[in-house]
Amino acid sequence: MKAMVLTAYGDVTKLVLEDVPEGKPGPNEIKVRMAGASINPVDWKLRSGALQTMMPLTLPAVLGRDASGEVVEVGSSVTRFAVGARVIGLVMGAYADFVVADAEAWAEIPAKMDLVDAAALPLVLLTGAQLIEEALKPKRGEVVLVTGALGSVGRVAVFAAKACGAKVWAGIRASQRGIAAELGADGVVALDSDKELGHLPRLDGIADTVGGATIAKLFGKVKKGGVIASIVGEPAEANEHGLVVRAMWTHPDSTRLAELARDVAEGRLVVPIVKKFELSQAGAAQTLAEHHAGGKVVLTGSLLA
Ligand SMILES: NC(=O)c1ccc[n+]([C@@H]2O[C@H](COP(=O)([O-])OP(=O)(O)OC[C@H]3O[C@@H](n4cnc5c(N)ncnc54)[C@H](OP(=O)(O)O)[C@@H]3O)[C@@H](O)[C@H]2O)c1
Repeated sequence: MKAMVLTAYGDVTKLVLEDVPEGKPGPNEIKVRMAGASINPVDWKLRSGALQTMMPLTLPAVLGRDASGEVVEVGSSVTRFAVGARVIGLVMGAYADFVVADAEAWAEIPAKMDLVDAAALPLVLLTGAQLIEEALKPKRGEVVLVTGALGSVGRVAVFAAKACGAKVWAGIRASQRGIAAELGADGVVALDSDKELGHLPRLDGIADTVGGATIAKLFGKVKKGGVIASIVGEPAEANEHGLVVRAMWTHPDSTRLAELARDVAEGRLVVPIVKKFELSQAGAAQTLAEHHAGGKVVLTGSLLA
């Protein structure tokens, strides 16, 4: 099969279309012919070597956490999926014609959902939901802020926090204000405007997708004992402000993934896709995604060829 192989840490020229052996599903795995894969920030962080201490790759490696496609083979112990099922999955190695992963990584998608577009969803749906439901855990009526709210994870986090009954502030860049209303948040604040930050109400917690100096200047806005939930690592010094820090990594959850995919199919939740590229153009796709793309960038796979 063809795969976009990362041959060495570095820039996008290190992503090369090569023939690699197809995987065979183990007893608890399924094999999927890829219709779509999508680009996530972790892809270019892995490619460049920025994460090599925390998450070393064995090179050559195939990147890609998000896959959509049709099941072509089912492991002997798997009963939930049949050959031909349309699925999405939170996987490893999605930049390839075929993807093999544990059955728990996959969920069937609604009939009316486009199979390629569905590839935009797994990591950002699960991350946004888990950031709120498992890390921030807001109670009904609590006031929370989502940073990077117009990002792909941020949009899902706003949706999940609203579903918990929280009063949600969307933290954006001032330059993004024109489209912020589509989030349906209770309030919008430009995180790069100290004047606007001055008008923020006292917060019960923050769901952080940005980190760095942006989260550091928000500590004083959170009540003592409030929660900073993060997907970008533990913010330094939050504990010294009397805040509870919960940093998390996304984990597969087939049931929740299927529910959230239904929210997208039925229009309750929107994860915009800005552009699609062929698998062989994964380098160009990463370059676009890395530079303020404003939405998901998707790769199309061999199922459509
Ligand atoms: N821990 C985990 O398991 C996990 C899982 C998934 C993602 N992540 C991480 O979560 C982060 C977000 O992922 P994503 O897929 O949502 O990325 P994304 O779609 O690129 O969204 C990031 C959003 O944050 C905005 N932003 C960046 N800096 C900002 C600032 N200083 N003030 C206000 N807004 C700012 C960006 O605006 P611009 O586009 O204008 O820059 C963009 O709207 C990434 O760092 C990713 O690696 C972690």
